[in-house]
Amino acid sequence: MSEAPASTAFTPRVFSGIQPSGGLTLGNYLGALKRFVTMQDEAYQTVYCMVDMHAITVWQDPAKLTAATRELCAGFIASGIDPERSILFNQSQVPEHAQLAWIFNCVARMGWMKRMTQFKDKAGKNAENASLGLFAYPALMAADILVYHATHVPVGEDQKQHLELTRDIATKFNHDYGVDFFPLTEPVIEGAATRVMSLRDGSKKMSKSDPSDMSRINMTDDADTIAAKIRKARTDPDALPSEADGLAERPEARNLVNIYAALADMTVDAVLRDVGGKPFSEFKPMLSELAVSKLSPISAEMARLVAAPDEIDRILSRGAEQARDIARPIVEKTYDIVGMVR
Ligand code: AMP
Ligand code: TRP
Repeated sequence: MSEAPASTAFTPRVFSGIQPSGGLTLGNYLGALKRFVTMQDEAYQTVYCMVDMHAITVWQDPAKLTAATRELCAGFIASGIDPERSILFNQSQVPEHAQLAWIFNCVARMGWMKRMTQFKDKAGKNAENASLGLFAYPALMAADILVYHATHVPVGEDQKQHLELTRDIATKFNHDYGVDFFPLTEPVIEGAATRVMSLRDGSKKMSKSDPSDMSRINMTDDADTIAAKIRKARTDPDALPSEADGLAERPEARNLVNIYAALADMTVDAVLRDVGGKPFSEFKPMLSELAVSKLSPISAEMARLVAAPDEIDRILSRGAEQARDIARPIVEKTYDIVGMVR
C-alpha cells in the first residue's frame, strides 16, 4: 500500500479510549491510564474518551452501562486526568464518531476486518450470532482516532492490530481521494505492563470480562481483597531470579514482577536487583503493600466522585462540546472530500 503523509505534518494530539463495559482493572490502569496521565504532562493536546458505542457491540444492561460510564469517568479523574487540561468525554455524546465511522465502513475491506483477532476472540465459536457492530468495531475505533486527526494513541499491547488497521484506513482514504487528509497515527505501547496477565493463568490477559474475579485486581477492590488476590495468585515453586532472562519461561512470575515494576516506576532489572533470590512468600507481601499504597488513593477518590453524578455529567457535557469543536470541521471536510452535498 502506498505511504500516506507522515504524522509529523500534523499537530501532535493524543487520543485514547476505554470501554465502560464493567469496572476498571489493574490492566487498564497500567496498560493505559497511567500512560494517559504522563502524556497529559508532555507536549500534547490530550483527548480521552469513554467508548460506550464500542461497549454495546456486546450486550450491556442499560442501567449498568450508565453507571459504568460515570464510574469510568471517575476512574480517569481519580487516576490523574485533569478535565481542565485534557478533553474528557463520552463517545455517544459526539455524533461525529458515528458519522466518520460510516465513511470508514465504506473504506475498510471485508478481508481486513476478517483478520482482526479481537473479533475472533470476542465472537468465539458462534460468530454467526455476533453483532454486526462487533465486526465493524475497528472501523469505529479508526473514526474515534482520526476524527481528531490524532497522531499518537497510548494503548495496551492487545490494541496493536486495531491501530495498524487505523493506518490502513487512513492510507486508503488518502490514496482513493488523492488527499493528504488523515495522519498515520503512531501507537504508543510502552512500559513494563503493556500486557498485564490474569493472576490465575499467566497465558491469559487480565480482563474485566473474565468470569473469575480472582483473576484480576479491580480499581475498586479494597486493601484486604487486593492482598488476598495477590496471596492466591498462581506462581511456580522457585525463588525469583536476579535477571530478567530468568523470567523467560515463567509467565506468572514475570507478570507479578512486571506489575511491581510498573507500579513502582522501576525497570524490571532494577526490581530483580532488589528481590532476586527471594521466595514468593516474601515477594507477594511486598507487591501487596505497593499495590495497596498506589491504588487505595485512587479508589477512594473514585468513590467520592461516583457519589456526585451531577458533577461527572457536567464534566462530560463540557468535554463533549470541546471534542465536537475539533471533530465537526474534520467531518465537514471529509464530507466535502467524499462529495457529499451538505
Ligand atoms: P478496554 O478495557 O478493553 O476498553 O481497554 C482499555 C485500554 O486498556 C486499552 O488500551 C487496552 O489495551 C488496555 N488494557 C486492557 N487490559 C489490559 C491488560 N491486561 N494489560 C495491559 N493493558 C490492558
Ligand atoms: N478498542 C479499545 C479497547 O478495547 C478501546 C478503544 C475504542 C480505543 N476506541 C479507541 C482505544 C480509540 C484507543 C483509541 O481497549
